[in-house]
Amino acid sequence: MKKVIVITLITIAAAAAAAAVSSTRANVDPERGKYLVSVVGCGDCHTPMKLGPNGPEPDMTRFLSGHPEKMGALVAAKPQGPWLWSGAASNTAFAGPWGISYAANLTPDLNTGLGIWTEEMFVKAIRSGRHMGASREILPPMPWPAFRNASDGDLKSIYAYLRTLKPVSNHVPDAQLASEGGAR
Ligand code: HEC
Repeated sequence: MKKVIVITLITIAAAAAAAAVSSTRANVDPERGKYLVSVVGCGDCHTPMKLGPNGPEPDMTRFLSGHPEKMGALVAAKPQGPWLWSGAASNTAFAGPWGISYAANLTPDLNTGLGIWTEEMFVKAIRSGRHMGASREILPPMPWPAFRNASDGDLKSIYAYLRTLKPVSNHVPDAQLASEGGAR
């Protein structure tokens, strides 16, 4: 009798655990991720601008692939008067008191993008503001102090959507940290 009760309890616990897992997974929806990425405007900084017939426009062949490798590392413009920070024409490189930051390649390319990033690393990076969730601080203007307020389901949905992107091989230069004399 005791054995039957124990087995029944284990079965109920397992079913509850499975339900909990599936309800969290149910919140992970790449379509919602796509929606959030479009509304938040990740592409404003992570998709390079190119000169089109009507002026600058996002280069959709390089969607979310970060600062173009062929532009490479840049020399920062000197700040003048009230102007404290500046952005490159591609809108993927930013110079300020932090040094120079280059928008990351968010496509799932194995060597140059988020290929090796796990969902956990992605969520941790956004929540902690640390590179890959563990090392140096993520520099401005990446708005992680705002994005960290997103729900787990939303962050995981964004990650799930980013995994569906066409991988673009684009090696983004390392940030030049002002604290290491990297800029200005
Ligand atoms: C205002 C510009 C801007 C916007 C908008 C923006 N980013 Fe970024 N992002 C950056 C910059 C610049 C970096 C590089 C920062 C660095 O090197 O420390 C970066 C880095 C990252 C990184 C790499 C972090 C790391 O650990 O090195 C991820 C992941 C990322 N962004 C995801 C996103 C997502 C997802 C969105 C939209 C929800 C987004 N970003 C919107 C500018 C932006």
